[in-house]
Amino acid sequence: MKLAVIPGDGIGPEVVAEGLKVLTGVLPSVETTTYDLGAARWHRTGELLPDSVLRELRQHDAILLGAVGDPTVPSGILERGLLLRLRFELDHCVNLRPARLYPGVPGPLAGDQAVDLMVVREGTEGPYVGNGGLLRKDTPQEIATEVSLNTYFGVERVVRDAFARAMRRPRRHLTLVHKTNVLVHAGQLWSRVVEEVSMEFPDVSVSYTHVDSAMIYLVTDPGRFDVVVTDNLFGDILTDLAAAVSGGIGLAASGNLDPSKANPSMFEPVHGSAPDIAGTGQADPTATVLSVGLLLDHLGLPDAARRVEAAVAFDLATRQPGSIGRTSAIGDRLAALAAS
Ligand code: NAD
Ligand code: IPM
Ligand code: MN
Repeated sequence: MKLAVIPGDGIGPEVVAEGLKVLTGVLPSVETTTYDLGAARWHRTGELLPDSVLRELRQHDAILLGAVGDPTVPSGILERGLLLRLRFELDHCVNLRPARLYPGVPGPLAGDQAVDLMVVREGTEGPYVGNGGLLRKDTPQEIATEVSLNTYFGVERVVRDAFARAMRRPRRHLTLVHKTNVLVHAGQLWSRVVEEVSMEFPDVSVSYTHVDSAMIYLVTDPGRFDVVVTDNLFGDILTDLAAAVSGGIGLAASGNLDPSKANPSMFEPVHGSAPDIAGTGQADPTATVLSVGLLLDHLGLPDAARRVEAAVAFDLATRQPGSIGRTSAIGDRLAALAAS
């Protein structure tokens, strides 16, 4: 397996180092190539993602990314020019973000509420496409637009993927999360596609929730969700909250998938570069380790994936409070557990 590694900025390199410890333990034959992309390269050369690097990345089976974004770089430069460019160029239409409250993990919700959802976030469209502009900049008449793009092709493929995932889960339930009461044009397209595709999956029950009330239910009644399918921006916001109710952002994994497998998929923690804790050894690498699990699963190595997930489950069930946030101690323990 040829893996491209983009450690990135802030805590990115710290958590990726631990993810690689675990990966090489369960899959010693993995060949890794590390790519220096992110804030340091941009400062040094002005480059974000040179075309030659993108061509090389395409030659790999998968990509493992830490995080990008740095307070010394204007907001959006690295996020759009590097991370989103990768997702768009590599056609990562499915942004898969599981959120599960593992046994033994203290959740913030009252009672023993189970959280086990699979968010299928659209990854290449919506308000993320950069379809907007500024008119009359720096005047009191300034106008800013950020137009959400939703294509039948793009919505259909992600909705189909979500239904197929729901079919493989015991509860077989799918919730469309949108804002059809206000964003009526995109809302109609999403609703109609869900209705159409549902005909092919009669065993999957379907419901709809507006994104604002979905935030309520994630906190008051998360058990109502199984698979959630939603647009790019709603999915971004929803998955930070889903992480918070399932043990914290340090545990939230993701995969940016090209289900056609024409391009390498990219695996990364949901969190960012966390400049507030970078360099302190406080970053929890578990999200990256679970992302390695998703990577193994995607590459058709389910046994290795299960070992990684089981290592995390065992560690979380037995973790001492003091170990939370100790990056390399957690990584060492997970690597030993997964390899044994
Ligand atoms: P963030 O996710 O980096 O941090 C939010 C909070 O969570 C911070 O308090 C941070 O300390 C904490 N946190 C994050 N990861 C943690 C971990 N592994 N263990 C323990 N605590 C953790 O979000 P932000 O502060 O909004 O963004 C910081 C930068 O990261 C920005 O430049 C942003 O654009 C970028 N970002 C990048 C990605 C990505 O690369 N996928 C994702 C989100 C944000
Ligand atoms: C995420 C991040 C990114 C997103 C940003 C950094 C572009 O927040 O991966 O969740 O919005 O998708
Ligand atoms: Mn986010």
